[in-house]
Amino acid sequence: RNSFQTKAVTQNIQSLASLQPKIQASFKVAVLGAAGGIGQPLSLLVKMSPLVSNLHLYDIANVKGVAADLSHCNTPSEALAFTGPEQLGDALKGVDVVVIPAGVPRKPGMTRDDLFNINAGIVKTLVEAVADNCPDAFIHIISNPVNSTVPIAAEVLKQKGVYNPKKLFGVTTLDVVRANTFVAQKKNLKLIDVDVPVIGGHAGITILPLLSKTKPSASFTDEEIEELTVRIQNAGTEVVEAKAGAGSATLSMAYAAARFVESSLRALDGDSDVYECSFVQSELTDLPFFASRVKLGKNGVEAFLNSDLQGLTDYESKALEALKPELTASIEKGIAFANK
Ligand code: NAD
Ligand code: LMR
Repeated sequence: RNSFQTKAVTQNIQSLASLQPKIQASFKVAVLGAAGGIGQPLSLLVKMSPLVSNLHLYDIANVKGVAADLSHCNTPSEALAFTGPEQLGDALKGVDVVVIPAGVPRKPGMTRDDLFNINAGIVKTLVEAVADNCPDAFIHIISNPVNSTVPIAAEVLKQKGVYNPKKLFGVTTLDVVRANTFVAQKKNLKLIDVDVPVIGGHAGITILPLLSKTKPSASFTDEEIEELTVRIQNAGTEVVEAKAGAGSATLSMAYAAARFVESSLRALDGDSDVYECSFVQSELTDLPFFASRVKLGKNGVEAFLNSDLQGLTDYESKALEALKPELTASIEKGIAFANK
């Protein structure tokens, strides 16, 4: 089970409640796109972390007010605003974790790939600055299409001579959060106990929940497997349609991204029991990038949980083969963009 839902959250709430943080705040986190729909609630959640000493909020607009607002919370970290490209370098210097939710979200009828033309350039520019100013940081890419923006980031870092595949992450935590929620509802399980690994990528059929690996173990009918898999794959679209033109998931995404930040900080802090799903450079399949469960440590990805891909059901094996062409094409599109 994921300890963010139990140990870390409980500790955070307890320490906030007592206003006496028990954990030493020492890490610097930068959020690029901090004034956005995800950026604002994510920054609030990161501001609550007892592990964070400095929170750098960067955006091209409106970030001063967000930082002023957050800076009144009496939690350990100092929140500072950085606006516009001329302040980007300062936003990144000395940072341990960089989270990138900058970019445009979907509207109804769009695919994540429809965001490529705008977001690819934004991610490229921001990662160039990361390479120049904090090349050792963990980099969390949220901007869509993640299946392409992570390969773009990798190419940019390679061009700058600072690529460390263990520290570049596509954030797919929301897929796991959704899978856990939907499975717990469907099977009447205690939500806090449920953990469903989600592999592949972060768009449509490339999102593959491994329901057969659900913990605690649960049995599903064929209909339940089909229904849950399709709902998890389309959950982003479910939110886009409900928001009817006002954007995509922001609050659940901020929650998921904060969980991934907290896990990364715990790993950096020496916790040896941190596991998360993430879209990373991988040798688990024949694809160069692949989302799967990884063990996080001080140096980033420490190990892959190879066992997740063993003993798949027929349904999961077929779905894994079916997702490969789309995921390969998205990865190649990102690589080509970065090298053009
Ligand atoms: P938003 O439009 O509300 O916010 C985006 C923010 O990025 C804005 O504040 C904007 O000013 C800023 N921005 C734009 N260009 C920038 C630049 N060059 N440098 C710095 N900041 C810049 O959008 P949102 O709802 O927060 O979504 C952001 C992105 O996250 C979208 O691409 C969306 O598709 C993606 N997303 C990913 C996941 C996931 O699971 N990985 C989930 C939800 C959304
Ligand atoms: C999500 O899964 O909610 C995000 O990728 C946003 C989207 O466009 O669906």
